[in-house]
Amino acid sequence: MNNCKAVEIAKNIYWVGAVDWSMRNFHGYETSRGSTYNAYLILDEKITLIDTVKINFKDELLARISSVIDPAKIDVIISSHVEPDHSGSLREIAALAPNAEIITTNPNGLKGLTARYGNLNYKPVKAGDSISIGERTLQFVPTPMLHWPDSMVTYCPEEKILFSNDAFGEHFATAMRFDDENDLSTVLFEAKKYYANILMPFGKQAQTALNALGNLEIQLIATGHGVIWRSNINKIIEAYKYWSSEEVEDCAVVVFDSMWHSTEILAQTITEAFAKRGIPAAYYDIKHTPLSDIVTDIFKSKYLAVGSPTINNQMMPTIASFLCYIKGLRPLNHKGFAFGSYGWGGQSIALVEDELKAAGVEIILDKIRIANLPTEKQLDEITEKILKLEL
Ligand code: FEO
Repeated sequence: MNNCKAVEIAKNIYWVGAVDWSMRNFHGYETSRGSTYNAYLILDEKITLIDTVKINFKDELLARISSVIDPAKIDVIISSHVEPDHSGSLREIAALAPNAEIITTNPNGLKGLTARYGNLNYKPVKAGDSISIGERTLQFVPTPMLHWPDSMVTYCPEEKILFSNDAFGEHFATAMRFDDENDLSTVLFEAKKYYANILMPFGKQAQTALNALGNLEIQLIATGHGVIWRSNINKIIEAYKYWSSEEVEDCAVVVFDSMWHSTEILAQTITEAFAKRGIPAAYYDIKHTPLSDIVTDIFKSKYLAVGSPTINNQMMPTIASFLCYIKGLRPLNHKGFAFGSYGWGGQSIALVEDELKAAGVEIILDKIRIANLPTEKQLDEITEKILKLEL
């Protein structure tokens, strides 16, 4: 283990988390820049730890806490979220500090933590509850379904710090703890990717949480992943307002797989036809781009065209997997259509269309089905159809 030290982010408040440089897959979300698991230690009359880290990193957490105080002195542990990237080392910390109260939401946090870690010294809280830890107060704001039922953020009014857990975070491994020490466009891209892949289905809950936090004066947003926001707080809050809205942009995404280039030719024609209408279209051969990146683009693009050839009476498994992912994320206000080539049966295109409908996509063009290789005339007809589409 390297020489792990706590990082002071405000007077007597330390980052004691871990950087996961190598993680490339977070339950199916491909994390090309790794991640961090952020935990925070507040030195006050009651020593308080906000969240822990994934179990593989417990030694780093303990080393960072120990660089400031003896972990046995922890009086309060706040569990913002049961998911094990934050609660994974809870039992180990509780064993070292057996008298520490573990604050969690009631009933969902309590149920989840008990199921995972057994009976510990839990203190359930609800909206509006707060505790004094000495010079500081910690106010608890449950944010249910952002993105689990138990999720909660904690606000410290004396410091004007919001400990936001998953909200406002990114999967982004960095040695620089603050937003303004990193490339902002990269951080904002990763924050959008995080929102698209984790929070997309929960826009209404995100707006409720933003309203609940609306009146707070915030100088730092201490997230559960990625950077701590201090210089661009308005930017990330405004981005969340937009991302959680139902607004979509006049852009298209074309996603396909192909066996012998026929569906690929259709995808190119469709992409160019959108461009001819002045609608920028992103083009994704699914073999070459991770789903989580494609979804980041689909998130605010109004149009979605999905193509698959037919294989054994089905769509390609890559496209089935993509459509399953999209169905779970439930993009709002999207319009689209299915396309594909086939040798004989040609069932895949209707199957793709059915899955698009199931994902809530409004079908605006009848399925494009082409046997074998598309002719120039057929490609011209497809272009014409897209140019004449009423959008
Ligand atoms: Fe970062 Fe939902 O855990």
